[in-house]
Amino acid sequence: MKNTKTSLYHPLKIGNLHLEGNLFLAPVAGYSDCAFRYVCIEGGANFTCTEMVSSEALVRNSVKTEQLLKRAENEKAYAVQIFGGNPQIMAQAAGIVIQKAHPEVIDINAGCPVPKIVKSGAGSALTRDFEQLYQVTKAVVDAVNGEVPVTVKIRSGWDYSNLTWKQAATAVVQAGAAAITMHPRTRAQGYEGKADWSLLAKLTEHIAGQIPVFASGDIFSPQAVKDVIEQTNVDGVMFARGAMGNPFVFEETRHFLQTGVAMDTAPQIRIRAGMKELRILIQEKGEIPACREMRKRFCAYSKGLEGSSQLRTRIVAANTQKDFEELFAPYIQD
Ligand SMILES: Cc1cc2nc3c(=O)[nH]c(=O)nc-3n(C[C@H](O)[C@H](O)[C@H](O)COP(=O)(O)O)c2cc1C
Repeated sequence: MKNTKTSLYHPLKIGNLHLEGNLFLAPVAGYSDCAFRYVCIEGGANFTCTEMVSSEALVRNSVKTEQLLKRAENEKAYAVQIFGGNPQIMAQAAGIVIQKAHPEVIDINAGCPVPKIVKSGAGSALTRDFEQLYQVTKAVVDAVNGEVPVTVKIRSGWDYSNLTWKQAATAVVQAGAAAITMHPRTRAQGYEGKADWSLLAKLTEHIAGQIPVFASGDIFSPQAVKDVIEQTNVDGVMFARGAMGNPFVFEETRHFLQTGVAMDTAPQIRIRAGMKELRILIQEKGEIPACREMRKRFCAYSKGLEGSSQLRTRIVAANTQKDFEELFAPYIQD
C-alpha cells in the first residue's frame, strides 16, 4: 500500500518496518561499513545499508565477509545487502544473515555491473534475467519467512536496447519483495552518463503503489532530492557518492525539504565526522588498514577546504591516526 505523504520528507514503511524519514544511505562497496554508516546516521540518514555481501562467502563461513554484517552502534535499523545468482545459496545466506546480524531488512543486489559478479549470474545479470530474479527473490522471501522484509535494488537494464526494468520490477513484486530501488543507469553505462530519472517516473507509475519505490543515481544535493521526488513521485531517495565527504547531506536535505532554506555544514564539522569515522574504523580493523582506507575518504572530506590539493598530497601519505590529527589540526580548531 502507498505510504501517506504529507511533504517531500515523510515517514514510510518497508513491510512492517516504520522509518521516520525517507533519506537513505545507499549500499557502497568499500565505503558503507559500520564506521561510515555511524557518521551518516549522526548526519541524519533515516536508513542505511551495508555494502554488498557475497552469498557464496557467507555460506562458506568466511570470517572477513561476516565482518561486513556488523551493525553500527547507533544503528536502530539497517539493511544487509546480499548478492548472488543461485536461489538456494541466496536463501541459505539470508538465513545466516538473520541469525548472525539480525538486520531489519535484507536487500538483494540486482544492479552491480562488475564483470566478475555479472558472469556469476549475480548483480545486474539479474535485472536482465528477470525470471532468475524472481527465483532468487522468492527463495530469499521464503527463507526469511516473514521475519524481515526483503527489498531489491535493480538497474534500468543491460544496455539501451535491453531496458528490462519493467519486467524486473514485476518479478520483484510477484516474488513478494517489500520495496524496490532503481539506479536508472544500464549495466553497460556503469557509472558513466546521466541517470535517467524519467525511468523512475515510469517505474512508480508501473508499481502503482503496490510497494515503495526508492531512487538512486545522481542525487548529490538537497535540491536534487526535491527534483527527483517531484519529477518521479518516488517514496524515498538514496545518497551514494553524494554522502562521501559529507554525511550531513541527509540533515541538510531534511531541512531544505521542510523549510525551503539551504543549510550548509561547516568544513570543521565535516572533518570532525571524518575523524570519528577513522576512530571507529581503527577499532574495527586496526590502525594501519583503517588509515589506508580513510585516505580516499579524507580526500572527499577535504573538498572545498583551503589548500585542498596540497592537503590531499599529505592525506594519501598518512599512515597513522596521529598523521591525520596533525594534518587536520588547523582546520578543526574552534
Ligand atoms: C564505489 C561504489 C560502490 C558501490 N557499491 C554498491 C553496492 O555494494 N551495492 C549496490 O547496490 N550498489 C552499489 N553502488 C551503487 C550505488 O549504490 C548507487 O546506486 C550509484 O552510485 C548511483 O548513485 P549516486 O549517483 O548517488 O552515486 C556502488 C557505487 C559506487 C560508486
